[in-house]
Amino acid sequence: MKEQILKLLRANPDNYISGEEICRRFDVSRTAIWKHIKDLQEEGYQIDAVRNKGYRLVSIPDLVTAAEILEGLQTKRMGQHIVHLKVVDSTNVVAAKLADEGEPEGTLVISDQQTGGKGRRGRPWFSPPGTGIWMSLVLRPQLPMAHAPQLTLVAAVAVSQALTEVTGSQAGIKWPNDILFDDRKCCGILTEMNMESEEITSVILGIGINVNQVRSDFPEEIQGIATSLREITGHPIPRASVVQRILEKFETLYDQYVENGSFACIRDQWKKQSITLGRHVSAATSRGIITGVAVDIDEMGALVVETEQGQQKVYSADIQV
Ligand code: BTN
Repeated sequence: MKEQILKLLRANPDNYISGEEICRRFDVSRTAIWKHIKDLQEEGYQIDAVRNKGYRLVSIPDLVTAAEILEGLQTKRMGQHIVHLKVVDSTNVVAAKLADEGEPEGTLVISDQQTGGKGRRGRPWFSPPGTGIWMSLVLRPQLPMAHAPQLTLVAAVAVSQALTEVTGSQAGIKWPNDILFDDRKCCGILTEMNMESEEITSVILGIGINVNQVRSDFPEEIQGIATSLREITGHPIPRASVVQRILEKFETLYDQYVENGSFACIRDQWKKQSITLGRHVSAATSRGIITGVAVDIDEMGALVVETEQGQQKVYSADIQV
């Protein structure tokens, strides 16, 4: 009911809607309406309440609730079911649990804050309240296990395209999972796989984006390498709109990828968004450090590095550019 009242107010930004009309539309008492309005105001919605006129929505807070994300979301599956939490250890952990319990593909877990946000290779991911996007999508791709890392690359293309659109500045992919602006990281992707007898049962696609932080909000040790969308554009950005653009881009690319059963169909778009190709890289792999110029990405998503000993393929690594 609260959501329906919000929808009605949202659809009439220039008019007051009388309590009487709301009562009539939703068949509820005046007292119930007033309670819902108060709840919405407590969540941060600025609602003008004028005697004999009614209610008018004046401003919308920067929330990543289901109501805000679903408003105008143009997807069929991705994000159509949303679990929003105020604080959580890690959205990837919650999403993995929900996937185990049978939640369908496209279920989105999103939290205002993470207390145990996970980065790649066991590193922590700084996830303070209210300023970033900390979210995880449940995926159920029918793919051979060896292809699962390609989902990180598909997601990186979707996120970098969405962030380019939202900011009007070119976002670049640093292989395999970072999105950067001007060589500073604003987003990381952590893909985790659940398997049963050699088959993928689900993949959890975790995405962390710095949206409205200012430089001094970052811990000192990452102030020199991190950035946020706010720093890039010079103004705060509503987080729900960023989530929507990402879900929409990702659904299109993911469907294309799964239908083709190959990264090859995404490869050209990946190259367009890459800031890795053509640069000198140093890749810390399990076989040691590989240095050279990143010249290509192959149809499996491996980075092709031209070294003094010839071309070498890097399947998994942290790279320095
Ligand atoms: C990295 O760059 O190391 C990956 C960072 C991934 C962070 C996101 S935030 C949402 C999701 N939940 C987590 O615990 N981690 C991912």
